Amino acid sequence: MTGAGTRRAFIVTFGCQMNEYDSGRLGELLAARGWQSAATREEADFIFFNTCSVRARAARRVLNHLEEVRALKRRKPSLIVAVGGCVAEQEGQALLDRTPWLDLVAGPQQVPLLPDLLEEMRATRGGFRRALTGPGRQPAWSRANLESLSKRGSDLKAPRAATLTAGLTIMQGCDNYCAYCVVPYLRGPELSRPAGEILEEAAALVAGGARDITLLGQNVNAYGRGLAGAPGFPELLKAVADLGVERLRFVTSHPKDFSPELIELYARLPALGDSLHLPVQSGSEAVLKAMRRGYSREQYLTLVRALRRARPALALSTDVIVGFPGETEADFEATLDLVETVNFDAMFSFKYSDRPGVASAGFPDKIPEEEKASRLARLQARQKAISLDRNKAHIGQVLEVLVERSGRRPGQVTGRARNFKLVHFDGSPELIGRLVPVLIAAAGPASLRGQAQDPRPVG
Ligand code: 5AD
Ligand code: SF4
Repeated sequence: MTGAGTRRAFIVTFGCQMNEYDSGRLGELLAARGWQSAATREEADFIFFNTCSVRARAARRVLNHLEEVRALKRRKPSLIVAVGGCVAEQEGQALLDRTPWLDLVAGPQQVPLLPDLLEEMRATRGGFRRALTGPGRQPAWSRANLESLSKRGSDLKAPRAATLTAGLTIMQGCDNYCAYCVVPYLRGPELSRPAGEILEEAAALVAGGARDITLLGQNVNAYGRGLAGAPGFPELLKAVADLGVERLRFVTSHPKDFSPELIELYARLPALGDSLHLPVQSGSEAVLKAMRRGYSREQYLTLVRALRRARPALALSTDVIVGFPGETEADFEATLDLVETVNFDAMFSFKYSDRPGVASAGFPDKIPEEEKASRLARLQARQKAISLDRNKAHIGQVLEVLVERSGRRPGQVTGRARNFKLVHFDGSPELIGRLVPVLIAAAGPASLRGQAQDPRPVG
């Protein structure tokens, strides 16, 4: 039985890890106000869709979800339905106008305000509907606005929940304006959080038992740019590692902002994990230029060589877009060639998708859908074979696995090695949260399998 006053929230998250972080924060802020999390949409009093707009397909998905809650709202008029994230920034009032059963549209910056807004909405019963963000609004991400929001947000301080692995947003926004990307338009310019605030949050995470922390930002290695008195990104990494973090990672870094000091850190800071996500987007000189990525194919390859010199065990993953306007078969083959040369451990690959307002939406020579699909399939088949080879190279090695959860099969647990690869092995759930040496016996394209070397965990 639940009490009459019980309020339940259901949060659905799409897209990047920054959205994951915002959703997690929202859950914590709501919990501090007595909200519980709903197991299903049916039992929810508040449903929040944290959306992504980076590709058209992601943006369409939320519309399907909204359609699904329409009937729920009819049955339970007190249900509050809200859309957040990048679709909220992109659409604003227009989405509210098109969706009569939607109550609130709020951008990523408004997350700290949501608990207060929900109280207001519950008090005014349907008289609230509004879009706090969207085209024509005062940009939610202006510095002054952000500061006042963060002040109001801190009035609602809630402890970070104790978790083994945790994300920590250190900056947001992006100034790069890659030709295909909506992020700078929707998330605004780069803004770094003060280092003191970040270290305080990191220390709380470590005290709560976090052993693996990922620093998050759309252009994370540009941290500190434009923030007076801020440490550089390498200094910030060292300061976070000094708090006693076992494994430290960061996403997403931009190749053009990868400083020599940051490369050096892979040789000198053992807490930095053996994995790095370094989006290349294309292997063609001409396409990289048209994409306005700010580096050449050769510069990317040079960076990879320097990183592997500093940290030979480094596992690299990347993002690739196929079918960018004007991409020829030769350009695409240059991408295949780069993928072979680098030998990425993992890849996320996408068909180019036109987004409203971005530079490439106006570029000529759009690639037909079937051609994009065929290039994507060729690229993915190639990468799958490479990932399998890279994973097979671990057979016979002992990897240190941080056990995160029970496995799919009973008696099995799953964790990640220092290179962030998933490892399954037989063991009891008591191992969750421990570091266990595992002898790798088998490998697939996406994960490894092995046996615990020593029944006694090392940490
Ligand atoms: N079309 C296809 N993929 C895109 N990405 C960003 N914008 C687009 C677009 N318009 C991909 C990039 C980026 C990842 C998060 O999404 O590869 O690194
Ligand atoms: Fe988008 Fe480029 Fe910024 Fe990444 S660096 S968020 S791809 S504009």
